[in-house]
Formats: sequence, structure tokens, C-alpha cells
Amino acid sequence: MRRTLAVVLLALPTAAGKTVALTGATGRLGRIAVQKLSQRGFSTRLLVRHNIEGVTPSIEADAPPAAIAAYLAKLPGVTVVKGDVTDTASVVTLLEGCEACLALHGARRTRKLQDLLPWVDPTTDPQHAKRVNYDGVRHLLAAAKASGTCKRIVRITGKGETPWSLFSILINTMGSLAKAWNYEGECLLRSDRRVDYTIIRPGIMVAGMEALDEGTALGLADNGGDLKVSKIPHASIAELAIECLAYPNAARSTLCAMAVPTEEGASSYAPLLAKVKPDTREFAPTLLAQHLLAVRVGGTALAALATGMASALVVAVVNIFRALMRLFV
Ligand SMILES: NC(=O)c1ccc[n+]([C@@H]2O[C@H](COP(=O)([O-])OP(=O)(O)OC[C@H]3O[C@@H](n4cnc5c(N)ncnc54)[C@H](OP(=O)(O)O)[C@@H]3O)[C@@H](O)[C@H]2O)c1
Repeated sequence: MRRTLAVVLLALPTAAGKTVALTGATGRLGRIAVQKLSQRGFSTRLLVRHNIEGVTPSIEADAPPAAIAAYLAKLPGVTVVKGDVTDTASVVTLLEGCEACLALHGARRTRKLQDLLPWVDPTTDPQHAKRVNYDGVRHLLAAAKASGTCKRIVRITGKGETPWSLFSILINTMGSLAKAWNYEGECLLRSDRRVDYTIIRPGIMVAGMEALDEGTALGLADNGGDLKVSKIPHASIAELAIECLAYPNAARSTLCAMAVPTEEGASSYAPLLAKVKPDTREFAPTLLAQHLLAVRVGGTALAALATGMASALVVAVVNIFRALMRLFV
């Protein structure tokens, strides 16, 4: 017990003089991470897409992103860099003097009908997951190497190593291949030896979830291991993203972070992070072709199911109408 406490105390992230860059600050995860970093005395540089001049600050859940950014910009130790992960110059500026980068951004683009047209290339849209989840990571990695100071990128992705799971198919179909491109971004980070990574694959982060459900605790699987999908608060994942910086053993590790039954987990990440080991298993160097195939096959099946159900509904309504007509006419 005493030994565990000593490990926990030694491992708490000390902020003294540390500068951390962060993307996705206006997101539900990012805004919590920024507040925690500021409270702990880190200097934090945020990449923000919005103009915040003259914007009224707000941290209300439904406030527009510019208002959230204006609020965060006023916190102690926070500097805002105007830019976008798809723009290399702003990413280079972001990482100036930073020791680490928390890459908490993610594409929000939903699939559009015109994406189905054979002559349309949806990846040319700057909001597409390829541009945000993959190119964005590529730019951050290049900027980290150029900075000479940024030694670790903490990247939040998600479960996406099973292209054929219903969850992957649904999210890839609706969200412009967000899972597929997140995995490709992971591969970029794993393939580079000059900048370390900690990849976090969280469970379902539910808006407004403040604490773990009763009977559950924090769980971590390293080495790209799997855990049953569960709901987890944004605050827990924000905590993990910051805390892992204090653990050299969490460098070059791929962590699945879920809520698990109490007896299988812990009440804080410290004892779990203390046991994490760098990745040793072989990860597929790309899963893009499989993700694309799964979306085509799965998407077609889902469309057929939906069309089939719609036709069945029309036939049922017509039959009921005819039956009523026979009764009353
Ligand atoms: N929510 C979940 O259950 C879940 C589960 C597993 C993994 N994840 C991953 O975790 C990430 C963070 O979650 P969240 O709930 O905080 O998502 P979120 O609320 O949708 O936030 C996404 C953030 O990414 C930023 N962003 C998008 N495109 C950008 C670009 N081109 N350049 C710079 N920033 C850009 C957004 O900025 P703007 O305000 O400017 O749009 C926003 O700050 C997700 O995007 C996803 O990849 C989420």
C-alpha cells in the first residue's frame, strides 16, 4: 500500500516550467483538459480555429466554440495560436517551445450524399477525416520533429482496429471514415522513432457524464489490448491524457481506456499507468483497404435493410387501409 502511494506521488505530473500544446481545445474533451492543465500550472498553447477578438467568453456546454476558446484563453498560463491542424504553418507555431502535444482534435464531418458520386473526391473537403485525423497528425509529427523540444504526442483515437465490427461500420459510414483515418494516424505515430507517442483509445465519452457509473472503475489495457466498450466521462480521459506525460513507461504505448467492473480496475489512473509497458505487438501497418471494403459491404447491407423495411411499412399501411375500406365501405 505504502509503495503504491509512493509510486502515485512520484508519478503525479509536475508542471514546473512545462509547456504543452493542445489541439481540439474547444471540444468536449479538450476544454476539460485545458482547465486541468491550467489548474496544475502548465503553460498551455492551444490551436484554435476561431476568431476570439471581442467574443463573450463562456464555458456553458452549449456555448459556441469561439466563446469556449475565449473563456479558455483567459485561464492562467494559456496562450491561443490561431490555426488549423490541416495548416502546417500554424501547427509549427503551435509546437514552438512545447515539450509535449495533446492531440485531442477529431473530424466532425458527416457523410454527404454527393460523396456517393463517382467523380466526387470527398477527401478534398478540409473537414474530411483524412485531412483532420490523418493529415493533422502527420503535420503535428513533422512539427514536433522540427521543434527539437516536443518529445511526446498523446493522441486520442478510439476502437477502430476491427473494421468489420458494426460500430466501426456505422461510424465510418456516417462520419466520413473517421475510425479508418484515426487508425492510419496511429500508424504514422508508431512508425516514427524520433517522437514518442501515447495513443489512447477511449470508450464512449457521453456528454454531461460527470462520474463513472456505480459499480465501475477505471480500466486500462496496454499493447493495443482490448476491453469491452463502455461509457466513460470526458474528465477521466482528460486526466489520463495529462497524467500519462509523467510516465516514461507510457511512451510508445497504445492504451485502451474503458470503465470496468470495480474489482478489475482502480479509482485513479496512477496505479494503472505505473504498470503500462511500451507496445511490443505487431500492429497492421494499414487497415484502410479493409475499412473501405467493410463500409461498402456493411453500408450496402444497411441500405438494403432500411429500404426493405421502408417497403414493408408501405405494404403494411396499404393493407391496413384496404382492410378498413372493406369494413366501412
Ligand atoms: N466522443 C466519444 O465518444 C469519442 C470516443 C472515442 C474517441 N473520440 C475521439 O476523441 C476526440 C475528442 O472528443 P470530443 O468529444 O472532445 O470531440 P468534439 O467535441 O467533437 O471536439 C472535436 C474538436 O476537434 C477540433 N477540430 C476539428 N477539426 C479541426 C481542425 N481541422 N483543426 C483543428 N481542430 C479541429 C474541433 O474544433 P472546432 O471547435 O473548431 O470545430 C473540436 O475542438 C474526438 O474527435 C474523437 O476523435 C471520441
